[in-house]
Amino acid sequence: MVAIPQGRAEQWAALAERLRAIGLTSEWVERHESAVGRFPAAFAADWLRVQYAVSEEPAALALRLLARDEPVSRAEALAALGEECFAFAVGSGLIEETARGWRSLLRLFLLDSLYLLGDRPEQTTDTVMGVGTTTALLARASYPGERVGSALDLGCGGGALALLLARAADRVVGADLNVRAIAFARINAMLNGITNVEFRVGDWYAPVEGERFDLVVSQPPFLPLRDDQEKIVYLHGGRRGDEMAHLVVSRMPEYLTANGIGFVLADLVTVPVGVTALVSAEVVDLEVDAAIYCAQAERQRDRRWWEEAHRTVEHLRRCGVKEVRLTLLLVGAGGGEQLTVAGDRWAGMDRAGIDALWVAGAAGDWLEQRARIVAGTTMEGECPLGEKVRLWTLRSGRGSLRAYPQVGDGILDLIRWVTRGETLGASLGGLSAGDREKALGVIDELVRHGVLEMV
Ligand SMILES: C[S@@+](CC[C@H](N)C(=O)[O-])C[C@H]1O[C@@H](n2cnc3c(N)ncnc32)[C@H](O)[C@@H]1O
Repeated sequence: MVAIPQGRAEQWAALAERLRAIGLTSEWVERHESAVGRFPAAFAADWLRVQYAVSEEPAALALRLLARDEPVSRAEALAALGEECFAFAVGSGLIEETARGWRSLLRLFLLDSLYLLGDRPEQTTDTVMGVGTTTALLARASYPGERVGSALDLGCGGGALALLLARAADRVVGADLNVRAIAFARINAMLNGITNVEFRVGDWYAPVEGERFDLVVSQPPFLPLRDDQEKIVYLHGGRRGDEMAHLVVSRMPEYLTANGIGFVLADLVTVPVGVTALVSAEVVDLEVDAAIYCAQAERQRDRRWWEEAHRTVEHLRRCGVKEVRLTLLLVGAGGGEQLTVAGDRWAGMDRAGIDALWVAGAAGDWLEQRARIVAGTTMEGECPLGEKVRLWTLRSGRGSLRAYPQVGDGILDLIRWVTRGETLGASLGGLSAGDREKALGVIDELVRHGVLEMV
């Protein structure tokens, strides 16, 4: 395992300052990456690589050196980092010279305005995960709209979520079993000049025993561990994969304040009972997933890799796993309601969007507004030939929420009635107080399911 680079807080901060000064920001990276989006997938990665390889911009050179494992010459490394930061990077053990040129021993990740160091994607027991797509997804979904007092990042790895939350919370704790991860998290705090996050080592809740938090986020390991494999701390969540997610969720209420909320993101085989959940509509293809995951351990695309992947799939089948879905669990959000959400919508959801799905009872505030059916919403009825359809399935026109509320004629009549163009208050004016309350409850649910919208 690569030694953890050593440096003082001001040296790490100076390195980040240098990266900012040469324009290496997540916006800069996104601009370049989205520009290749128009290429067929088979060419996009190569086009991007060549684009960076021919560029003389210091940001491109720094990206190749620190983030992309594409070695650069000494002159290019100096152009990227400047004399002082280059000397620090060499002295601290962050970069080294190889026969192919200068390269980083670690990986730099950019998340929002943060610079984060993690391990290269090797699979050894205590490898520290960098920022993954699921990290970014959880960050967006959980980042609070209003400041909170305290936040906990459980299984924080290199500290990405904890450091992001440092802006939104007075006090943040990041905890992880992996000592190496906590060492990285402390370096990442220095790199970003963040001082209101405390990083602790320990098994799940042990480092925060007796404490409560307004916000808890966690992305536990969620890959299955076969009997013949060595456990990799950041990847393996139990024999079938989702055991750790279940454990984290079951104990979370003890660590939440009265109005606290917890977000757990994981690939789940089963959704814990009574917990509010956004379940991805897409099933994780077990074979594809196993092939991608085994590709990191088996560099050659050969028979060994193929056999590894198949051993994993067979193992899952033996464990009774038929399907796995990416799921966001909301602990403390009450209800235990579950919605199935298509991937495209899911990936783009921020905290406000997620809150709006669960916060019931808003319809009372819409009396001056008009309800209309979300364009493209459809209804389907299924029943034996010759019988009358009793229940209709509504599919949101946003093509997103697939909660598919099942409604009868009474609710269809209500939808027709409140979408004639009058304000909600006027439409419901003739009802008794009790019926009006009931109708508002139904309208609220239809809005949250993306079937109705208020204008
Ligand atoms: C999938 S990684 C997530 C890392 C980071 N939070 C993120 O979202 O990018 C799972 C993390 O859980 C940690 N972990 C695994 N087992 C743990 C345990 N028993 N107690 C605390 N943390 C654990 C791993 O070390 C790893 O950092």
